Amino acid sequence: MIRVLSVFGTRPEAIKMAPVVHALQAAPETFESLVCVSAQHRAMLDQVLGVFGLRADHDLDLMVPGQSPAQIAARVIERLPPLLRDIRPDVLLVQGDTMTAFAAAFAAYLERIPSGHVEAGLRTGDRFQPFPEEMNRVLTTRLATIHFAPTAQARDVLLAEGIPAADAHLTGNTVIDALLQTVRPDYHFHTPRLSSLDPSRRMVLVTTHRRESFGAPLESTCAAIRELAQRFPDLQFVLPVHPNPQVKATVERLLCDLPGMYLIEPVDYLEFVHLMARAHLVLTDSGGVQEEAPSLGKPVLVLREVTERPEGVTAGTAVVVGTDRERIVRVASELLTSAEAYDRMANAVNPYGDGHASERIVAALAERFG
Ligand code: UD1
Ligand code: UDP
Repeated sequence: MIRVLSVFGTRPEAIKMAPVVHALQAAPETFESLVCVSAQHRAMLDQVLGVFGLRADHDLDLMVPGQSPAQIAARVIERLPPLLRDIRPDVLLVQGDTMTAFAAAFAAYLERIPSGHVEAGLRTGDRFQPFPEEMNRVLTTRLATIHFAPTAQARDVLLAEGIPAADAHLTGNTVIDALLQTVRPDYHFHTPRLSSLDPSRRMVLVTTHRRESFGAPLESTCAAIRELAQRFPDLQFVLPVHPNPQVKATVERLLCDLPGMYLIEPVDYLEFVHLMARAHLVLTDSGGVQEEAPSLGKPVLVLREVTERPEGVTAGTAVVVGTDRERIVRVASELLTSAEAYDRMANAVNPYGDGHASERIVAALAERFG
């Protein structure tokens, strides 16, 4: 029996780890699967646990409103080791690039417990973009024992950084597993505000929350959305607002008065997947959304200066537009007026996986730790 402890804390980690936990649970003769949540996010994490029917065996419950990355890391490093000493997992799994992921991998190292990194090998090459996620990725690669790369390009990064080929597995991204397990043909929104969306009008879905965009860049993004709303009065905008106080205050101040603007609380994953499916265009600085939208045939404008997910740009499903008002308006306007430009992006192929990443991860764990 291989005892696997999956540790995660934010919404995107939970979405991307849910298929892995389910795959571990589906092989009870080989694995004992335990889940520890840091609850770096409280409400948004619990939304995901609910949608995927996951139960946490251990909950560090560490979120405080307006927390700093350093506080999150400190609490994980303080609270996780006693639990690790208690349950002695054969391997600890972390996902992605959050404070929870890095700090849990570090805690595992301090307890001399091997760790596996799901979604390994993403890099922008700029230590401050995204901040602090780029550094979390680099450090988690150094700490982990076994690495699960979502794309061939990500695996090449790991090999170039000296990870032995036998430890770097090409798996696809588990976000596609989650998406394909969730999307359904006839879905009705359960968020009351969304029932007034007009199906005959085009909808633009927007998410934004990156720390390096707080202040002027986020204000500039909001100004671009304002200008698009005025230039294209037929458009509806849906913006599930991240609960980070720095995001919420700016977005509400700059956009709340526009007609056709749906500023709503974060919606659960089921609802969000079907908002993507219903959208004409997606504007986002999210990592996960950059990977999901192309699977649903939706062009993505990336509200960052640089992306660690260049595969979407190469495939033609994503364009990096940054946070400059004029650039966002120009690129979005072209897609909103040229059917040819739109179809080129909408018909490009998703480069992030085939929906079987979790099976590959679980097979690699069985081989390595069995
Ligand atoms: C973190 C991750 C980022 C990820 C993002 C996903 C790090 C360094 N960053 O961002 O990679 O893209 O989560 O959303 O780990 N809040 C609530 N309820 C919730 C969740 C958040 O009220 O359910 C509020 C709290 O005030 C919290 C704040 O949002 O303090 C920010 O949460 P935090 O985890 O610090 O977010 P980020 O670091 O911005
Ligand atoms: N998402 C969600 N509800 C929302 C907004 C996003 O369930 O209101 C999902 C989305 O489908 C994706 C993930 O959350 O899988 C992305 O999370 P986020 O943008 O917070 O983090 P990132 O991916 O940038 O780390």
